[in-house]
Amino acid sequence: MAWRQFFFLLALSMLALAGRDFYKILGVNKSASKKEIKKAYRKLAMKYHPDKNPDDDTAADKFKEIGEVYEILADDDKRKTYDRHGEEGVKNMQQGGGHDPFANFFGHFGFGQQQEEQREYKGSDVVVDLFVTLEELYLGNFVTIKRDRPTFEETSGTRQCNCRMEMKTHMTGPGSFQMTQHRVCDQCPNLRQAIETEELELEIEPGMLDGMTQRFSGKGEPHMEGEPGDLYFKVKTIRHNIFERKGDDLYTNLTISLQEALVGFDMTLSHLDGHGVDIKREKVTWPGAIIMKKGEGMPNFENRNKLGNLYITFDVKFPRGELSSEDKDNVRKILNQASAQKAYNGL
Ligand SMILES: *[C@@H]1O[C@H](CO)[C@@H](O)[C@H](O)[C@H]1NC(C)=O
Ligand SMILES: *[C@@H]1O[C@H](CO)[C@@H](O)[C@H](O)[C@H]1NC(C)=O
Repeated sequence: MAWRQFFFLLALSMLALAGRDFYKILGVNKSASKKEIKKAYRKLAMKYHPDKNPDDDTAADKFKEIGEVYEILADDDKRKTYDRHGEEGVKNMQQGGGHDPFANFFGHFGFGQQQEEQREYKGSDVVVDLFVTLEELYLGNFVTIKRDRPTFEETSGTRQCNCRMEMKTHMTGPGSFQMTQHRVCDQCPNLRQAIETEELELEIEPGMLDGMTQRFSGKGEPHMEGEPGDLYFKVKTIRHNIFERKGDDLYTNLTISLQEALVGFDMTLSHLDGHGVDIKREKVTWPGAIIMKKGEGMPNFENRNKLGNLYITFDVKFPRGELSSEDKDNVRKILNQASAQKAYNGL
């Protein structure tokens, strides 16, 4: 392997590593918190969304770019790799199944630290339900969650760790030798279980669906010999007493009086963010009638400029008691409705 060739390759890869400045693209500082990154992304995504910029190719490209950048910076692992190894590093990580690209790089040329086949230990992943209101899913929200997490902390003394089997060769005479297997361990500081209280900031994104998760890398169960597992928050919607959600659509039931059913009405329904939805009818409304309000459903998770619909099913409250015979005559005259009597089994 010619050295010159090697350095040429190395220089090439360094050039590629320069890559784009993801932080600049989102307009945030390198030390920006996850929340700041998300907020910056949301703002730009709204601005450059293709729905808002039809026939503008540069906006479409920009939208795609901020999406790619956001995907990296919003993920703890990928962001760490990006910070360390740049854009190319993240690309290698995505192709190479999460290995440090430099380990492979040097390994390939046969120097650097020897690549040992070592089992990687990892603690279990933890999944926690995140109960959210429909209001939060409509508007989005940032919540801070305090969590007591089991960890290991160093204590006095040492323990054996990184144990492995190694072959040793003994000369048993001129030209003859024997190979034996030995168990070898390192000495690591002793560990004891501890509880660490930490605050996690997570975002309830508008339009999130039940079962969607948000991952916190390394916040799961600890492992004495390796990395801790991951923590997942899984969205679960709390039942709402006015709206029911199916996909991006909302459903509600509305009771009106018989009089309103016959002569029409004009009313305002308070939506999840408090804005009023005007519901107006001139025509007769029968029990079970459904009207649709376009765009008054939930925001779509992928594209929050796109909203589902709201379906309102009516129920009619009839008056009790009895009308006078004069009123009955008047009603007959007004409605002039033929008898529609029919017995049926309701199926
Ligand atoms: C970046 O950090 C500097 C100082 O730390 C601050 O003045 C500036 O407002 C920050 N910019 C953004 C976009 O957060
Ligand atoms: C509306 O009423 C129907 C029938 O009673 C019921 O199944 C449905 O859950 C109700 N919807 C809401 C949003 O309460």
